[in-house]
Amino acid sequence: MPEQPVPYSHALHVGELGLDCRYCHTTVESAGFAAVPPTATCMNCHEKIAPTSVKLKPVRDSFLSGMPVPWIKVHDLPDYVYFNHSAHVTRGVSCVECHGRVDQMVEVEQFSPLSMGWCLKCHRDPAAHLRPVDKVTDLDWGLERTQDEKALAGRELMKGLGLLDTLDQPTVRMSLMTNCSTCHR
Ligand code: HEC
Ligand code: HEC
Ligand code: HEC
Ligand code: HEC
Ligand code: HEC
Repeated sequence: MPEQPVPYSHALHVGELGLDCRYCHTTVESAGFAAVPPTATCMNCHEKIAPTSVKLKPVRDSFLSGMPVPWIKVHDLPDYVYFNHSAHVTRGVSCVECHGRVDQMVEVEQFSPLSMGWCLKCHRDPAAHLRPVDKVTDLDWGLERTQDEKALAGRELMKGLGLLDTLDQPTVRMSLMTNCSTCHR
């Protein structure tokens, strides 16, 4: 968990104020990369809210100078691994599956190992990890459901994605998920 230049809290901005992930991470649905927000996004509010806060001084300095806030990356896969956010988010894999309860984190920490075994565990059988696409940033969604209920509903979603033919017949597309060249290109 690196020390960030500004003590930005997801627990406050997402958990309490209710901002959607995509307000700041605008590219998660459209690009491979999830992009940390530019300073202008913070200044939408912080021109008026807490305008003299010492904690926000680096944000105001960045706004004046045009130099980005030097956020430090928390997650970093090796360069030889290909990962793509939009491929997951637009198919019903929620942020919470990989990043945990970011809406409750004061400082973001890595929640999953991001190892090859971890990726493959889901790629071999994603059913219980899928949800309707419009719920991917709702980290509270589905908490009341059991694993079995999720897996059953997930198989219907896999059929919709073309990963299953009938409810238990994998397609060619499903076999690509465990193909080496899907993640090593
Ligand atoms: C108000 C803007 C804002 C919102 C809303 C927001 N984030 Fe962030 N996020 C940031 C900033 C700024 C950083 C970089 C600083 C840090 O890591 O805390 C960040 C970092 C992250 C990181 C770590 C990135 C890395 O360096 O590896 C993850 C994961 C993340 N956010 C997930 C989420 C999720 C999931 C949501 C919705 C539940 C969300 N964020 C909502 C601003 C936001
Ligand atoms: C939708 C409005 C909104 C946006 C956008 C927003 N914030 Fe905030 N932020 C708030 C509110 C409200 C508070 C609580 C202010 C208070 O407690 O007086 C706050 C508090 C903070 C604080 C604590 C300030 C202090 O002195 O305790 C920091 C640091 C902060 N925000 C950083 C950021 C950063 C960095 C961004 C951009 C990535 C951002 N905020 C985007 C509304 C916003
Ligand atoms: C299938 C797993 C998975 C899902 C789902 C996922 N992420 Fe990530 N996220 C990752 C991995 C892996 C990385 C590290 C990527 C790298 O280092 O190349 C990452 C990195 C990030 C980063 C740092 C910038 C970047 O792209 O490297 C942010 C911000 C982030 N994720 C936000 C989100 C948000 C917001 C959501 C939901 C809308 C989300 N992620 C959904 C696995 C996931
Ligand atoms: C929680 C489940 C889950 C995890 C964890 C996960 N994935 Fe995926 N991944 C999926 C699903 C679902 C798809 C969509 C398959 C499809 O629609 O064909 C996918 C698709 C992909 C694709 C194909 C993108 C494309 O369209 O060509 C790549 C590449 C990928 N994942 C890489 C990774 C890597 C690398 C990791 C680990 C760092 C990872 N995934 C972790 C569920 C997951
Ligand atoms: C779903 C994505 C995914 C698929 C499919 C995948 N890998 Fe990987 N692979 C990864 C990730 C992520 C890492 C990085 C692991 C880490 O940093 O701990 C990795 C690491 C590796 C490494 C480096 C291991 C090391 O210890 O340095 C090798 C070699 C490798 N993979 C070979 C393969 C081969 C061969 C296949 C096909 C049988 C394959 N991978 C399929 C995601 C994948």
